[in-house]
Amino acid sequence: SWTPAAFVDTTVAELKEKIGDDKVVLGLSGGVDSTVASILLHKAIGKNLYCIFVNNGLLRKDEFDSVLDQYKDMGLNVKGVDASARFLEALKDVSDPEAKRKAIGNAFIEVFDDEATSITGVTYLAQGTIYPDVIESVSATGGPSATIKSHHNVGGLPDFMKLKIVEPLRMLFKDEVRRVGAEMGIDKELLGRHPFPGPGLAIRILGDITAEKVRILQEVDAIFINGLRKWDLYDKVWQAGAILLPVNSVGVMGDERTYEKVVALRAVESTDGMTADWVNLPYEFLQETSNHIINRVKGVNRVVYDISSKPPATIEWE
Ligand code: XMP
Repeated sequence: SWTPAAFVDTTVAELKEKIGDDKVVLGLSGGVDSTVASILLHKAIGKNLYCIFVNNGLLRKDEFDSVLDQYKDMGLNVKGVDASARFLEALKDVSDPEAKRKAIGNAFIEVFDDEATSITGVTYLAQGTIYPDVIESVSATGGPSATIKSHHNVGGLPDFMKLKIVEPLRMLFKDEVRRVGAEMGIDKELLGRHPFPGPGLAIRILGDITAEKVRILQEVDAIFINGLRKWDLYDKVWQAGAILLPVNSVGVMGDERTYEKVVALRAVESTDGMTADWVNLPYEFLQETSNHIINRVKGVNRVVYDISSKPPATIEWE
């Protein structure tokens, strides 16, 4: 039967055999999948693994710096590239969800390509693709049903990169990836992180994206996520986040009428993201969180909680 220890042994041996003395470049996202993939490769080929961590400006609050530090502590050879401005520019006036994914995917490839080509003699590109990514993308492109969502981290790269692909987690589900990570001694908190989409906050800001909207959503999201941790709810939830809605609603502050943004909170239970149920969070938690958000985040005067399951809703709103 499948065990994490056996998976690590076999995979490290296979990677050694396959890659030999070649160099591999890998894009880290801060998430569980790319981190576990990088540690497997690091075990197999050591310093021939070159990691790149791109800040697309759509990460959670303070995440770029904290995660970059964490990677360095893990002994990875990682270069952090702050490309926030470039991504915001590519997203200017883009509102359509799939167009956002495309713009982000293209910007990522450009930035990544610039960085990868500056490392001489790279022949492989490693990716943290896991099994559900593979099936959701196949059903999105191959099946009779229309495209659901085109996850930009699947589907390889344009020809000009001419790199061979290596995807050590391609056959694993998320819980197996976490077990493999634990087997290799990766920090529990990092392994327990909720999944976060590659396009980041861009697909949680409905409508067009501006630096100001990103800032508002980062603040709201941080209050929500820190609250989940404080109330010991974080590990009971599979994924959580906030969504900035493209509507204003009327409120009142003191004697003044306000007309400000609405945010939605979403927390789901799931095993693999393919189906999901909304989480019955305690009213007292929702009450405190809502008060904190409205009192502390300028520009938001209303908080709602998403009580939709997947299907028929999806986890992300875009
Ligand atoms: P949905 O919204 O399709 O999400 O129910 C299922 C899981 O996939 C994540 N997700 C993405 N991940 N690129 C990614 O890397 C994407 O474009 C993307 N869209 C959704 C979502 O956060 C959830 O975990």
